[in-house]
Amino acid sequence: MATTLKTERLLLRDFAIGDAGRLARLIGDFAVAGNLSRVPYPYKITDAHEWLAGLPATPDPHRTTFALTTQNDGLIGAVGFHDASKGTALGYWIGRAWWGRGYAAEAAFAALQWYFQSTTAGSVQSGAFHFNAPSLAIQRKLGFVVIGRSMSHNRARGEDIDHVDTVLTREAFQAIQRQHPEQAGRNEKIAR
Ligand SMILES: CC(C)(COP(=O)(O)OP(=O)(O)OC[C@H]1O[C@@H](n2cnc3c(N)ncnc32)[C@H](O)[C@@H]1OP(=O)(O)O)[C@@H](O)C(=O)NCCC(=O)NCCS
Repeated sequence: MATTLKTERLLLRDFAIGDAGRLARLIGDFAVAGNLSRVPYPYKITDAHEWLAGLPATPDPHRTTFALTTQNDGLIGAVGFHDASKGTALGYWIGRAWWGRGYAAEAAFAALQWYFQSTTAGSVQSGAFHFNAPSLAIQRKLGFVVIGRSMSHNRARGEDIDHVDTVLTREAFQAIQRQHPEQAGRNEKIAR
């Protein structure tokens, strides 16, 4: 992938093999894994190595995951794009110790800005399990709208769960960018 993005507080960079231990500790928290679709629980170090090894070797904006890092704390979470049933979908998580500080919204904004600049996509999918009010609040703020509900598999919980499906159009995101010119202008692509 090899794109690096910088926001006010975060550096979005490639994952590296050296992230495996920290990744396993942070995503291996049930409060994180249990809100994601495809993450096993318990999450072993071998799961981290397997996931890192499976990251695409060639750049593809539709299949890119950024490691979220802060200057003081290093790796704190991830944001990225992956194939989903109706097209490319946005996903993200933040380690529990850093919740409630606006990091997910800041990272998702930067990632979406990069995604729409790097592709001709007209929209991107997302959503959240019905109990994930904070995630749905973030998506609403970014311009996503609810398009339906589906029963979606949650690997950590081992069951199908009611999922709120959302979509963000390029036009809706452009409107959000116009409302937040300070944030849009602050994000920077610093390497490719
Ligand atoms: C969901 C998650 C990504 C949020 O990360 P975060 O950095 O704490 O999120 P932010 O601080 O950017 O924003 C959280 C928003 O939710 C809002 N919120 C928090 N609790 C809420 C609740 N019970 N109901 C509604 N909104 C709520 C906050 O007020 C904030 O919105 P605001 O900035 O407008 O005030 C994080 O909790 C996480 O990683 N959870 C586990 C994995 C996950 O759920 N990933 C998303 C899968 S769809």
